Amino acid sequence: MKKLIIPALLVSLSFGSVVEQYLTNLKTEVLKNEQNFKGFDVKRGEEIFTSTHMGKKGKEISCSSCHGIDLTKSHENFFTAKTIEPLSPKANPKRLTDVKKIEKWLKRNFNDVYNREGTPKEKGDVITYIMSK
Ligand code: HEC
Repeated sequence: MKKLIIPALLVSLSFGSVVEQYLTNLKTEVLKNEQNFKGFDVKRGEEIFTSTHMGKKGKEISCSSCHGIDLTKSHENFFTAKTIEPLSPKANPKRLTDVKKIEKWLKRNFNDVYNREGTPKEKGDVITYIMSK
């Protein structure tokens, strides 16, 4: 029994720490410019995720255009129609477990929607929103 319990425990611990460490680092970045910053905010994250903008390819899109509104469900890529697995870590335990992957896709996806990279505050807010789903 013990053998089964310990790996499960390690998986859950490492999940928490990867994304939490990432958020802590982003918060340190935000505090450099905004001394009275209180913390990341689900509502601001929701606005970032669901609002529509003239994206990189000259089409009105939002993060939801590819990831959907219900983050526990898979959704079709707006451009390629390929299936994207759910973004919610509750529905898809592989999500938000690898900082390199998170950074790579946030950079690319912010560019798709906002034509620029996300700021540390925007990235923290949107990750906090995704985690709440
Ligand atoms: C044009 C389609 C598209 C748009 C728009 C888009 N994404 Fe993505 N996103 C993807 C694809 C494709 C992947 C990588 C494939 C995968 O992991 O399923 C991905 C992966 C991610 C990941 C990686 C999660 C992980 O740990 O596996 C995050 C976080 C993410 N997107 C957030 C966002 C946010 C925030 C926005 C809006 C700023 C956004 N996406 C807009 C297509 C999109």
